[in-house]
Amino acid sequence: MANRLVVRNVEAGYGAVRVLHGVSIEVNDGETVVLLGTNGNGKSTLINCVMGVVRPERGEIYLERDGQRIDLVGRTPEEIVHLGVTLVPEGRRLFPKLTVEENLLLGAFRADARRDIAKNLEFCFEAFPVLRERKRQLAGSMSGGEQQMLAIGRALMATPAILLVDEPSVGLAPVLVSRVIAKIRELKERYHLTVLMAEQNFNQAVKIADRGYVIVHGQIAFEGRTKDLTEHELVKKFYLGV
Ligand SMILES: Nc1ncnc2c1ncn2[C@@H]1O[C@H](COP(=O)(O)OP(=O)(O)OP(=O)(O)O)[C@@H](O)[C@H]1O
Ligand SMILES: [Mg+2]
Repeated sequence: MANRLVVRNVEAGYGAVRVLHGVSIEVNDGETVVLLGTNGNGKSTLINCVMGVVRPERGEIYLERDGQRIDLVGRTPEEIVHLGVTLVPEGRRLFPKLTVEENLLLGAFRADARRDIAKNLEFCFEAFPVLRERKRQLAGSMSGGEQQMLAIGRALMATPAILLVDEPSVGLAPVLVSRVIAKIRELKERYHLTVLMAEQNFNQAVKIADRGYVIVHGQIAFEGRTKDLTEHELVKKFYLGV
């Protein structure tokens, strides 16, 4: 099943405050695309528009699946998860007083995901062996890196075709950031996931991205292949400190 995510001219905000001013991005089947931007530039707002959490005032968001167009605007987050788009939210949003295994099971709320629960749990444990070892541990007592793995594992329980990851590196020590990023690359390669990742950590993000967009004040300031991004003035200025 080939999947492509298309966002076209999206305008969105909160009340009278406009945050996104006509944003267009595309994530092709099997690609990992990074959305780069410093604090408050609209990364989460865009991701939440895709998930149906924030409703755009204008513009289109749709999937192209085997040549068929599936519009996402106006659908609920549950419907969007059902269509195979899953979010690893900013800040992870785990249930700290539940165990690792219970948190994973909560990710499988789609009817077809429930049917595949044993298979998906095995899949998560295979992708993240640490989650198997710690399955009875309370999520809140896991390390930051382990919690991020758990948040990704929970999203995988919904058998996504497209995975949205909102700032996986936040709050993690550099060594853990590398580990989480390497894990996302492994998932993409082993399971042909299509990934859209919001990040501020440029150096880590470019390790796994095929392409990237730089978002500044709710507008796409640059888009290109990872190699070209590294050489772009904006990126040098904001992310590489040169
Ligand atoms: N629920 C909300 N209500 C009102 N304003 C909001 C809300 N969520 C975000 N904003 C505002 O929208 C703007 C963009 O925020 P957003 O969270 O999309 O940025 P971001 O790029 O994800 O930043 P960060 O890297 O800090 O997560 C900010 O000015 C923020 O204050
Ligand atoms: Mg954010």
